[in-house]
Amino acid sequence: MNEFDIVSKAITSRRSVRGFLPDPIDISLINQILSAASFAPSGSNIQPWKVHVVMGEKRDELSQQLLEAFSNQLPETREYQYYPVEWRSPYIERRRETGWGLYRTMGIQKGDRVASAQQHGRNFAFFDAPVVLIFTIDNYLQQGSWLDYGMFLQSIMVSARGLGLHTCPQAALANYAAIVKNHLGIADDQTVICGISMGYEDTSCVANQYRPDRMELNDFVTVHS
Ligand SMILES: Cc1cc2nc3c(=O)[nH]c(=O)nc-3n(C[C@H](O)[C@H](O)[C@H](O)COP(=O)(O)O)c2cc1C
Repeated sequence: MNEFDIVSKAITSRRSVRGFLPDPIDISLINQILSAASFAPSGSNIQPWKVHVVMGEKRDELSQQLLEAFSNQLPETREYQYYPVEWRSPYIERRRETGWGLYRTMGIQKGDRVASAQQHGRNFAFFDAPVVLIFTIDNYLQQGSWLDYGMFLQSIMVSARGLGLHTCPQAALANYAAIVKNHLGIADDQTVICGISMGYEDTSCVANQYRPDRMELNDFVTVHS
């Protein structure tokens, strides 16, 4: 493989895996991934990231608390607005297609709220991944640092591929920021951005067969020359 193929394979083999094997991951692998990702660029090199690696008993307890909050429909404590309040085309159509596409793959009928909620609830079991990373940012930082943060998150997910690991980024975990912060002793001057579940893919999990489409270049690129 030439260098482009190696890099491209790492990028294009990353996908959101929603079913993991319970096999543990050694902390040395996680450190290796985080060390590589720490080379992500950030404006003025301010490196706005803070990562909590949650595994073992701490992971199980967090999952239990989140699952309880979700199943008892406790009020959400999200600290930032991820999506627009009012959806518009073409984003609403893409969003619907992603949701329905996953449910279609899993044989969940449109309008089956019980099965849809059950699948959404799997977020809080971290899709059975043995490790979840929780990401926070200092409240005082601005939009530019959130841009930096995205590069760091993607670097983690791409680096994980190099070790045969898969990931699922999860904004859903920020829905219960108060629970996450309390469980991990995160100070109030931090905002919970999201989590990333990480582990080895359970290839027998039907949810993992879903492959969302991407736009064609013509749909998002304008060449000026
Ligand atoms: C910041 C971020 C948050 C996300 N949050 C969730 C989530 O809470 N639960 C989930 O199942 N997928 C989540 N996703 C995964 C997206 O649905 C997924 O990236 C998208 O559908 C494209 O699919 P792919 O990642 O398999 O290429 C998130 C993705 C990103 C980048």
